[in-house]
Amino acid sequence: MKPELKIKAIENGTVIDHITANKSIHILKILGLPDERFKNVTVAMNVSSGETGRKDIVKIENREVHHEELNQIALIAPKATINIIRNYEVVKKDKIQLPHKITSIIDCTNPKCITNYENEPIKSKFKVINSQPPVVRCHYCEKLIKTEDIEKQFE
Ligand code: CTP
Ligand code: ZN
Repeated sequence: MKPELKIKAIENGTVIDHITANKSIHILKILGLPDERFKNVTVAMNVSSGETGRKDIVKIENREVHHEELNQIALIAPKATINIIRNYEVVKKDKIQLPHKITSIIDCTNPKCITNYENEPIKSKFKVINSQPPVVRCHYCEKLIKTEDIEKQFE
């Protein structure tokens, strides 16, 4: 039997687990990583999970990420969990839930939308119409962004 790859347990910090396989790169971006201030960030991509599945994992030592900060990643990784670790123990486990509003992490697909004007940058903003699968509507031009259009932005 081949030895299984084990990723070191952390003493304090955050483990974002059950991330959709190969999507952790987008989550790092939302978290503002890489960042010189955060040392010992571990990313595991496309590792086996359960019997047949695959997932990504992100471990950030000495930083407790609050789930409000991360709820928008439900667009990318609906099954993700956020585990807060203190003294090697999981002290809090949260499932990610898509909030009612999404800001900045996706772009409006309407080229004429005010959020796409080059010289007048306005952050995108969307109302969540359906959470699973995600469908959102632009706050500014009312363009409906369908699930496949959202997924395309995270390929
Ligand atoms: N973890 C870690 N360091 C610790 C404790 C846990 O890196 N000191 C990681 C585990 O490797 C796992 C995640 O945090 O990826 C959640 O830990 P735990 O709740 O113990 O695992 P499970 O029971 O398998 O979680 P779930 O039910 O969410 O799959
Ligand atoms: Zn728009």
